[in-house]
Order: sequence, then C-alpha cells, then structure tokens
Amino acid sequence: TTCLQRVDTFLGRSFGTNVVADQSETPRKDEAEEKDGRKSFYAVQAERQEQAERSVLFSCPSRTSERKILKYLSRHGEIKKHFSYESYGMYAVAEFENRESVDSILEGAAIPTASHESTVPFKSRLLSVRNLGPADSSNQQSSKHDQSQTTIPINELMKRLSREGSIAQQITSLTEAYQLTDENIRLRFLVCSLLRDIAAAYFPECTIKPFGSSVNGFGKLGCDLDMFLDLDSISGRNIKTPKSGLLLEYQMKRTNSERAVTQSILSVIGTCVDQFGPGCVGVQKILNARCPLVRFAHQPSGFQCDLTANNRVAMKSSELLYIYGQLDPRVRCLVFTVRCWARAHGITSSIPGAWISNFSLTVMVLFFLQRRNPPIIPTLDHLRDLAGPADKCVIEGNDCTFVSDFSKIQLQSNTETLEQLLCEFFEFYATFTFTKSSINIRKGKEQNKPEVAPLHIQNPFETSLNVSKNVNVTQLERFVALCQESSWLLQQTETLTPTGGPTPWGLTTLLLPSQIAGIKSRKKRGREAASERIKGLLESLKNKNQQKS
Ligand code: CTP
Ligand code: MG
Repeated sequence: TTCLQRVDTFLGRSFGTNVVADQSETPRKDEAEEKDGRKSFYAVQAERQEQAERSVLFSCPSRTSERKILKYLSRHGEIKKHFSYESYGMYAVAEFENRESVDSILEGAAIPTASHESTVPFKSRLLSVRNLGPADSSNQQSSKHDQSQTTIPINELMKRLSREGSIAQQITSLTEAYQLTDENIRLRFLVCSLLRDIAAAYFPECTIKPFGSSVNGFGKLGCDLDMFLDLDSISGRNIKTPKSGLLLEYQMKRTNSERAVTQSILSVIGTCVDQFGPGCVGVQKILNARCPLVRFAHQPSGFQCDLTANNRVAMKSSELLYIYGQLDPRVRCLVFTVRCWARAHGITSSIPGAWISNFSLTVMVLFFLQRRNPPIIPTLDHLRDLAGPADKCVIEGNDCTFVSDFSKIQLQSNTETLEQLLCEFFEFYATFTFTKSSINIRKGKEQNKPEVAPLHIQNPFETSLNVSKNVNVTQLERFVALCQESSWLLQQTETLTPTGGPTPWGLTTLLLPSQIAGIKSRKKRGREAASERIKGLLESLKNKNQQKS
C-alpha cells in the first residue's frame, strides 16, 4: 500500500494518494531478467512502458464495491493486475492482459452529458465509473479500509525507527517506508502513457518516458514525476543513407537551433495538456529555462509533473544512478537516509533556491562510497571502460558511455556496516575541503575546483557543468555544521543505546532539531531561516522564466 503525500509548491495545494487495496498476483519472473536476477535499466523501462499501455485509470464512486467494478471491467478481457488508491476520491488502475481489451473498454464508454458546462471531446484512458443502480450498502466502507499509509509523517517514522534494535535496522526500515512501491511506479508510467496519447496527436511515433527519481531507484513516495518527450524515432538520425541512387526525404520546417525546436514543441504540447488533458491542471510553460519544461499537476494521480523534451543526457544520468543503486543494497539505504536527514534539517527544500538538491546529495553519497577503502562502488570511468559496443553513447558531444550489463561489473569486498558508513559519511563531509576540491564521480577522486562556486559537483556527463551551482555559502556551511553535529552524536554512547522506543535513539536522534544551532541563538536562527526562505522564493520567482534550478 502507498500514500503519496506531496506539497505542490507551485499551486499551493497538496494532493494525497493512498493505495488502499491490491489483490493482484505477484509479478512473474520476466524474460527481461538478466542472468544474475537484475534487469537492465532499459529492460525495466520497456516492461513498465508496455504494462502502462495495457492499463486504464478509473475514478470510482466510493459506494460501489471493487468486486462489482472488476466484474464489470473483466467483460472486456482478463485483468492481469489491479489496485486502487485515494486521491480526491477513489481511483483504480486496471492492467489488462491484452491491449484489445483497452480498445474494447474505450469503445463501450459514453460521452459525459453536462448540463451547465461544455466538455472538450478528447477521449483518453482516464475514465469514470458511474453507478446507475442503487449503491451497494454492503460495501459503504470500501474506501475506509486503509491499509498502512506509506509516506508516513516524519514524527511517526521517528516513533517507528525508535523501536528498531539497531541503527542498521533503522536505516533499512526508513528505506522501506520511503521508497516507491510497485503500484506507485506503475502509476507513474501510466501517467506518462496517458500524456503520450495527447502528444501523439502531433507526433504519432513519440514516447514519453519518466526519468529522474521516478526510475533511478532513489525516488521517495510523493517525489515529482520528471518526464521526457522522446522524438528520436522521428528524427531519422539512425537511418542509413545510400551512397548512390535516389533517396526520399521529408520536407521539414527549419529553425535556427535545436533549443528553438524543443521550445516550440513543448509550447504546443503544453497547450494541448492545458486545454485537452483530462485531470491536468495548473499548466505552466517554463520555456526559457536551461532545460525548457512544462510543469503541471496531474490530479487523478496526485503527481507534480515536469515535462521536458530533448533531454537524453538526463535519461543517461538516471540510468547511471539506477546501476549504482542496484550494485550494492547499502547504496540506496544510505541515499534514502541522508536525504531524509537533510529534509528533516531543512538542508533540502521543495522550493527552488540556494539549497542543496536531492540529486546533488545523491551524487555526494555516491562519491563518498567510491572513496571507501576498498571502494563500495566503481568510478564512472571504470564503468565506461567496461562498456561493450552496444553501450556506446555520445549525446551532443558528451560521452555518456558506460556498461549496462551488471554481470560485467566486479565489486571489491567491502564489509562496512550501514551504521559505520553513516557515521563515516558525516565525518567525510564534516572535514571535506570544499574550498579547494570538486566532487567528481567520474574519477572517484576530488579534483581541483575549476570555478569559485561554494559547492562544486561535476555533472558526470556534461563535465563543464556544476550540478550544485545554485548552492550558496550559507547553505553549504549549514550542511557542514550538521554533518559535524551528526558525526559527533553518532559517537555518543547515549545515542548508540537502543531504547526500545518511543524515546529517540540512534538514527532518530539525528533527525531531531539540531542541538548546536539551537544553543547559538534560536531567535537569530529563526530570522535567518525566514529571510533565507524569502530570498529563495524571490529568486525562484525571478528565475522561474529563465532557469530551472
Ligand atoms: N538533473 C541534472 N542536473 C541537475 C538537476 C537535475 O542532470 N542540476 C537531472 C538528473 O538526472 C535528475 C533529473 O534531472 O535525476 C531530475 O531532476 P530533479 O527532479 O531535480 O531530481 P530527482 O533526481 O528527480 O530527485 P527528486 O526526488 O528531488 O525529484
Ligand atoms: Mg525529480
């Protein structure tokens, strides 16, 4: 079961989604599975995308039993998987065995009659189940039997963690509570597939793929849905031209830059999403950003969506993070823990500004794991050296080549525990020479900083870019101070002794409001935090139409 709780900072609204029931079969072992049980990134993507194309999203009347709805739907074909969740009412996802069943469902669906309003006659796989007969009195509670909520509030999480018997268990428990569930990932792919249907009105061969934390293995329930409109199959880049004879080519409009093409495509698709997309609200076109995007909320799923185009490098960086996360279970555990810790202390924020981003933090954890002795994960250069011919990938002059086959990657045997690693992580960044060094996961070693940004994290593929260009000195100093404090706390016997709950201990102690900062001056800190927040907001408003932070 899941609960996605997400604050929509742009609309000032929050959407909650609770998965209520799932009575489906367990997923079968798939042909996409690799020899060692781990699927390649592309195999996972392709499988999920295909599942989504066979799926339909329904809003359901709360007083109709799920069984009745399922029985009704299964007249169109076998349902392979289904689940329901709450988000402004009840919703259900049904994945059919065959795509034909979806066509049959759509054929049998009625056009809504609206007495006061007019409807946009755009048909999609987002439907409403209407109960024309009497409500099922037996099942009035159907939307009430909430199973455990998944994005539990921080206070509740802390109570849960305090009951654990070791710090390693606390870390694992936190990861389990926060990570995306199978249903949530399915819903993400379904939303992409629904949007694809809108974009396909102009570009029938396009696909819309999720990237970022939805697919890189580090997504937390409620994280945004980053999407990428892929027009590669249309671009004709891969077509071999004959050396002689005749050739037909399309006449196409020309513009002066790739960027201008991306902007105009996103502008048109953005308008379609805004005017025709059922459930899509608050559409904003942010076309002057470094990476132009269309931002909106998809109400039925509760996802905040960022749609980009021509963003293949970001797709490669999602794949890279996925690989690192799959190499050793400690990677994901540590990333989830550090992200949660950072959020609890306001080091990261949902508002764009001078804060460290989750993506930057993830890269910092990866770098730390490369610096262990022996290293827990290999450098990106090493992964590039292991690549086969099929892995070769150059995007706009940037070498994005790295191995995709897990069985080729040999790891060194590092036996450090999660507890040790967490403590060492804080120690590592409490004493890191940020003034001189740049964090570089390609080399797996700190490099001399090429520019004077307070925090320099080299973008692994666009190597001239700094992933954390936005971070200011104040934010970096706060991060370092909190690393120092947490590292100190993790060396105190008091912190290390399990209490059996509910009194905080271990990891929970680290999530409590900072002690050191509290002693300094609470009043001053409050003022600083507020002015920082306001500054951040102003910056974000100013930059909104120029740059995506
Ligand atoms: N990205 C990047 N450089 C940045 C910011 C983002 O390359 N400075 C890419 C990364 O691949 C990242 C993706 O864009 O994963 C999406 O960015 P964002 O939504 O900011 O980060 P997520 O990793 O999705 O994390 P979150 O859960 O906070 O959304
Ligand atoms: Mg994201």
